[in-house]
Amino acid sequence: MTMTPRSHDSQAGFPVVRPRRLRRTATVRRMVREHRLSVDQLILPMFAIAGAGREEPIDAMPGHSRMSADVVAIRAARAFEAGVPAVLLFGVTEHKDEFGSSSCDPRGEVQDAIAAIKLLVPEMVVITDVCLCEYTSHGHCGILRDGHVDNDLSLEAIARAALSHADAGADIVAPSDMMDGRVGAIRHTLDAHGHEDVAILSYAAKYASAFYGPFREAAGSTPSFGDRRGYQMDPANGREALREVGLDIGEGADMVMVKPAVAYLDVISAVRATTTLPIAAYHVSGEFSMIKAAAERGWLDERTAALEILTAITRAGADLVITYYAEDAAAWLKETE
Ligand code: PBG
Repeated sequence: MTMTPRSHDSQAGFPVVRPRRLRRTATVRRMVREHRLSVDQLILPMFAIAGAGREEPIDAMPGHSRMSADVVAIRAARAFEAGVPAVLLFGVTEHKDEFGSSSCDPRGEVQDAIAAIKLLVPEMVVITDVCLCEYTSHGHCGILRDGHVDNDLSLEAIARAALSHADAGADIVAPSDMMDGRVGAIRHTLDAHGHEDVAILSYAAKYASAFYGPFREAAGSTPSFGDRRGYQMDPANGREALREVGLDIGEGADMVMVKPAVAYLDVISAVRATTTLPIAAYHVSGEFSMIKAAAERGWLDERTAALEILTAITRAGADLVITYYAEDAAAWLKETE
């Protein structure tokens, strides 16, 4: 649980009560620590491109690159070796059309990356982002009709993309498009093709956030017109997140996500109070890059700031944290063991 609203522990106050007694040494602090970030909770996002032996650094995300399937697999193996149990894969493609058709190409960037990881590190959990925005010429997360993203028209394409990821060997598919009804559509399609065991992690409460900036550079998925506010959630809304989560669980989500994480800790906490399902929180590209940028200028201590934020996300109630810091955090946590 998070925090108790009222303390019944003692009627006494200062000078009888002195909370500092339990902060005096590193050992006692270790004993009374309420939350421990564990490497088991970390998920590393990666960007897959076509070809072999390719690695293109992403300017706005120091330390991260777009990589061909073979390089993705090597990096995933290195992360797994460091203790990170899972990756979240994104495809970056040059094959774009109005309908995002290449999203379900059996030899697409993501599909090849899944296969390469499964070959090299079969135990690693492979999660795939399911969306059309990286594959559509207009950069929107669904299919357009009369200049608007048509919800129901998009569902079939999204479910087909998820199916192709499952066919390629994905363990978990994670729809991030925010169309209504997509969790149910994906579940139905997966089950109809013998993929009952593939789980769904739904981006249940995904906000129309300014913090996705560096990602859109990385994935080449900036909308060519308009924005995503017609399908992603309004940052001003908290209660609506609970409705989204409830709907996705009703449609068969196995895990739910809140995204971004840092500006939405209250949402994570509220979702925690209403569901027993595992909750993932996405520490997104902008949240990563702003720590990096401040650290580069010497304005923040990167390691302390990153671990503080990742721990805060778990304190708010997240079981899993998707973060570009996954590999670094794994190493830092090992050092402090
Ligand atoms: C695709 C998608 C986005 C992110 C994850 N999946 C971008 C967006 O919705 O514009 C953002 C991840 C990040 O910023 O790290 N729909």
